[in-house]
Amino acid sequence: MRLRLQTMTEPIMSQFPETWQLATRGVRAGTERTPAGEHSEPVYMTSSFAFDSAEQAAARFAGEETGNIYSRFSNPTVDAFCTRLASMEGGECCVATGSGMAATLAICLATLQSGDHIVAAHSLFGSTIGLFNNYLSKLGIETTFVAPDDIDGWRAAMRRETRMLFVETPSNPLTEIVDMAALAELCQGTDALFVVDNCFCTPALQRPLEFGADVVIHSATKYLDGQGRAVGGAVIGDADIVGNRVFRFLRTCGPSMSPFNAWIFHKALETLDVRMAAHCRSAQSIAEWLVEQPGVEHVYFPGLPSHAQYRLAARQQPGGFGGIVSFRVSGGREGAFRLINTTQMLSITANLGDTRSTIVHPASTTHARISAAERERAGISEGLIRISVGLEAVDDIKADLSAGLRG
Ligand SMILES: Cc1ncc(COP(=O)(O)O)c(C=O)c1O
Repeated sequence: MRLRLQTMTEPIMSQFPETWQLATRGVRAGTERTPAGEHSEPVYMTSSFAFDSAEQAAARFAGEETGNIYSRFSNPTVDAFCTRLASMEGGECCVATGSGMAATLAICLATLQSGDHIVAAHSLFGSTIGLFNNYLSKLGIETTFVAPDDIDGWRAAMRRETRMLFVETPSNPLTEIVDMAALAELCQGTDALFVVDNCFCTPALQRPLEFGADVVIHSATKYLDGQGRAVGGAVIGDADIVGNRVFRFLRTCGPSMSPFNAWIFHKALETLDVRMAAHCRSAQSIAEWLVEQPGVEHVYFPGLPSHAQYRLAARQQPGGFGGIVSFRVSGGREGAFRLINTTQMLSITANLGDTRSTIVHPASTTHARISAAERERAGISEGLIRISVGLEAVDDIKADLSAGLRG
C-alpha cells in the first residue's frame, strides 16, 4: 500500500503489504529508519529545515523539489504519525492538527465557503456545535441539526447548497449510532462531503471510509493517545480533499501538530488495538452491571441489546462497542453530582479515552456552553453522567461507583 501525504512538499511514500491487519499497521506502518539505525523513531524537534543552497530553497518553495521546509506544514515525526493513522483508517492522506477542534475547523474552512450549508447530527461534542453556530454562521455558512437516526430527516434537511454532512458515531455522550452507509448514499450525486468524527471508536473498532464517508476526523487527544498526555487532531481522506485542500489550509493558517505530540501519538498507536479491546470488555461489563443498580434510570451503551441501534452498532463497529458508558440517575443534577462526588478513584475530568476511568456531568461541563434547548433536543438531561471506562480492574471501577449508587 502506498500512502501519499504531502502534495506541496516531499511526498512521503510508505510501503507495506496490503495484507497487514490493523494491529500490525499500528505497530509497523510509518516507520522510516534513519542511518543511525534506531529501533524506536526519533523526534524531529526542529521548526525549520536547512537547504544546501539558495537554489534548493527556491526550488523547494516553488514546489519543484520535494523535501521539508518548515514544521508548520511538514515534519518527519508528524508525517510518521500521519502515515500510520492513514494506513489504519484505510485513507490515502492524513493531515495532523493541533487539536481535534482544529481538525474540524480545518475540514470546514478548507472545503466550505459563504452560502454553503451543513447538515449535522444534533448529538455532537459541544464545541463542534459551538463552531457551527457561533463561528461558521458568521461566515455565512448555515447549519441545520437533525436527529442522528432519522434518515428521512437528513434527506429533508439537505438543500441545493448543502456541502457537508457531519456526524459523530457513537455520539458524545449518548452513544447514538448513525447509519453511515445510508448517509453516504444520500451524498451520492450531490456536492456534499460526508464527514465522520471517529473519536469514540478509532479505526480499531470502526473504519468510516469503508462505509462511504469521504473524510474522517479525530481528536487524537482521546483514544489515539490513550493516556491523557497530549492534545492533537487529524483529518484523513483522499489526495484532493485532504492531501491538497486541507493541507494547503494548514500550511497557510497553521493550526499544526507539534512534532513532540506527534511522536507521543505515533507511539501510542502501537497499543491502540489491544487498549481498545480492553476498554470495550470493561465497558460492556460496567454497562450490564449499571442496568441492575438502584437509582439508575437508563444506561446508554451500544453493546446493550436494549440500545435502539444495537444491531447497527454491531454491523458498523466490528471491533467492539466502545469504552464510553453514559447513564441517567434519579434526582437530576443533584443526584448526578452526589454520585460523582462520592467516587474516590475515578477522575472527575472531561477528557475521555484515557487508561484512567473518568467521570463527568455533561450538562454542566462538555455541553454547558450550548443552550438548554439544544441540550434538551439532544437528550442531555441533568441526571446524565458519562464514564470513560479505563483500564483499571473492572471490579475496582464498580466498587468505586457502587458506594454512590447505594447512597
Ligand atoms: C467527539 C469529540 N470530537 C472532538 C473533540 C475535540 O477534540 P479536542 O479536545 O482534541 O480539540 C472532542 C473533545 O472532547 C470530542 O469528544
